[in-house]
Amino acid sequence: MIHVNETEGIFHLTNRHYSYILRIEEGQVVAQEYFGQPIKAYHGARKYPRIDRSFSPNFPDATDRLFSLDTLLQEYPGYGTGDYRSPAQQIKHEDGSDVTDFRYRSYERIKGKPKLDGLPATYVEMEEEAETLVLILEDAKEELELRLAYTVFRDRPILSRSVQLHNVGTKTHDIQKLMSLSLDLPSQQLECLTLNGTWGRERMMERETITRGIKVFDSKRGSSSHQMNPFLAIVSPEATEYSGEVVGFSLVYSGSHQMTIEKDPYGQTRIQLGINPFGFQWQLNPGECFQAPEVNISYSQHGMMQMSHAFHALYRERLARGNFRDADRPVLINNWEATYFDFDETKIKQIMEESAALGIELFVLDDGWFGRRDDDYSSLGDWFEYQEKIPNGLKHLAYHAHAQGMQFGLWFEPEMISRNSRLFRDHPDWTIHIPGRGRSKGRDQYVLDFSRKEVRDNIIEQMTAVLDEVEIDYIKWDFNRNVTEVFSTALPSELQGELLHRYVLGLYEVLEFLTARYPHILFESCSGGGGRFDPGMLYYMPQTWTSDNTDAVARLKIQHGTSMVYPISSMGAHVSAVPNHQTHRKTSLEMRGHVAMAGVFGYELDATRLSEQEKAIVKQQIAFYKTHRRTLQYGTFYRLESAFTSNHPAWMFISQEQDEIIVCDVTVLSEAAAPIRTLKLSGLDPQAIYELEGARYGGDELMYVGLYVPPTVNGDFDSRLYVLKKI
Ligand code: DGJ
Repeated sequence: MIHVNETEGIFHLTNRHYSYILRIEEGQVVAQEYFGQPIKAYHGARKYPRIDRSFSPNFPDATDRLFSLDTLLQEYPGYGTGDYRSPAQQIKHEDGSDVTDFRYRSYERIKGKPKLDGLPATYVEMEEEAETLVLILEDAKEELELRLAYTVFRDRPILSRSVQLHNVGTKTHDIQKLMSLSLDLPSQQLECLTLNGTWGRERMMERETITRGIKVFDSKRGSSSHQMNPFLAIVSPEATEYSGEVVGFSLVYSGSHQMTIEKDPYGQTRIQLGINPFGFQWQLNPGECFQAPEVNISYSQHGMMQMSHAFHALYRERLARGNFRDADRPVLINNWEATYFDFDETKIKQIMEESAALGIELFVLDDGWFGRRDDDYSSLGDWFEYQEKIPNGLKHLAYHAHAQGMQFGLWFEPEMISRNSRLFRDHPDWTIHIPGRGRSKGRDQYVLDFSRKEVRDNIIEQMTAVLDEVEIDYIKWDFNRNVTEVFSTALPSELQGELLHRYVLGLYEVLEFLTARYPHILFESCSGGGGRFDPGMLYYMPQTWTSDNTDAVARLKIQHGTSMVYPISSMGAHVSAVPNHQTHRKTSLEMRGHVAMAGVFGYELDATRLSEQEKAIVKQQIAFYKTHRRTLQYGTFYRLESAFTSNHPAWMFISQEQDEIIVCDVTVLSEAAAPIRTLKLSGLDPQAIYELEGARYGGDELMYVGLYVPPTVNGDFDSRLYVLKKI
């Protein structure tokens, strides 16, 4: 996987999917040579041409007018020695200067993949699965050491990168920017694709041409955000779902992030991803090391779908952990849209009983069970039962769920505090805020300062008191606002720039503790829906609530965008009541079911208010989902028609054993005199025979000719499911 030519100074990282080649240039500068299709016979003769460019300083060899860092394709560029593009790192030294000049010193090869200290990352189960190269670079003057890590997964089109900065000297340095990845590409036409959005409209896909200048995609919110998912793809202009070159970058981090694309005057493109340098600063004292988060890069020669498959498999198999990684996920019902805060013990028990009779496997008690929480103006931080509301307590409700043959789940929002809470009265300084300045509210709540150990300990203590006492099978971990007035009363002024990253590290520490202590609990992450749908959270919690928008039509785009990176087993998707609470649209129960089955399936409605006819449909849906659950949760997912461009979004699943195919075809708006469409399937065995409703088709026929789909006779918002079996 890693070929080193020490004489030529070439590192060739390769597997059957890609080649990534680095070269040590004059003056021990590390240059980026190539990233793309695998090169079998690389001889190293091909060198990037040297040209004397005006206004590009000559460094490190001042006498060589052909050599300048300003025009070289570099691997991890510094600042201040002639490259005027964005540096990968910015470090303020003790004397006030901020020039960095890292040169290659040595390398290490490591079998497998080392863990990242304090941060989530992909992993291997056996050493043979991957090999890691660590390039060690040093800035001799400042006595700083950079360790650039590259893991090649043997069988995946994935390269993982991360960076460590070590202070091996005696002076203190201030890190202002330390990107997890920098990648320079030679001149070519490229486009980029991002997943941006807002609450209720997460991960909308946007594609644009990369032009000269700098384009920044970021989050300054202290979380990965609804607004900009920490994902970026660089695609060739002709790339489609199934053809063309696509390079995907996915940052394993849940805090403020930045992704930049810079195209220089010579058409060269520099890509960087990492912790957002905006407002960031980290004091690196002698002997200390700073670990930047991981970026996973996927290389695809066959379009976006191949990229998504690589990320799906990686994140499902080697990022998610614990008992639930490979387990069947239960069909759940959540009472949020059924009752909001307005429930009592009797109502909850009624929903439980009704749900159990429908075949639902897990009941989730959402917001409102704690403190004195009757609306969103109080009680966050008071994680003890609201006795007037649930007089017999959570234990009794858990018992009741279990007695119905259902599991019991509970909502928490551990990182938040309401002004009107016992916790705030006791510890008004525990929020993130600036003394003497007003505290902005969001949903009438403040963010707890999770960089502080005593705050984390208090929340852990309160949560374990509940979890040790009550038989809880599932936790929904919510996060309903972003930080403002970024300041910690526990940090000295010179360390304030560390707060947001310390917060994320604190959150990860709490999650590590709780998920290790309660391995039997299935954790689902949530942030007002999908405001923190990122690989960092998936390391601790294998599921995320995809969006608060439960409308089946809106979900088509949201789930399509999410599926660019994240596996179906990670995407919570529920059937809710109509008119939909977010869009006020009415869609059929059938379509709501079909769309929710393209995620981890559940319900979010008042089961006691379903008509007999609706109950019959729900029972059928649940029975269908249970029968085909492995295929729907762990099969290979294919996008067939885009929710962003087609009136007929379609997708399909192929079971891991390849013997079952489930196809869903949607009509958003019906048309008069509509044409007969053909829906071409994907990923089938062209030689195999498949059976659909008694008829037999060749795999090639289904992929190249397609299924004929007559126009709907059911009006708008119609959908159809097809189940095919391989003979
Ligand atoms: C936001 C979540 O996304 C919802 O599902 C629900 O849990 C509410 N918070 C409760 O406050």
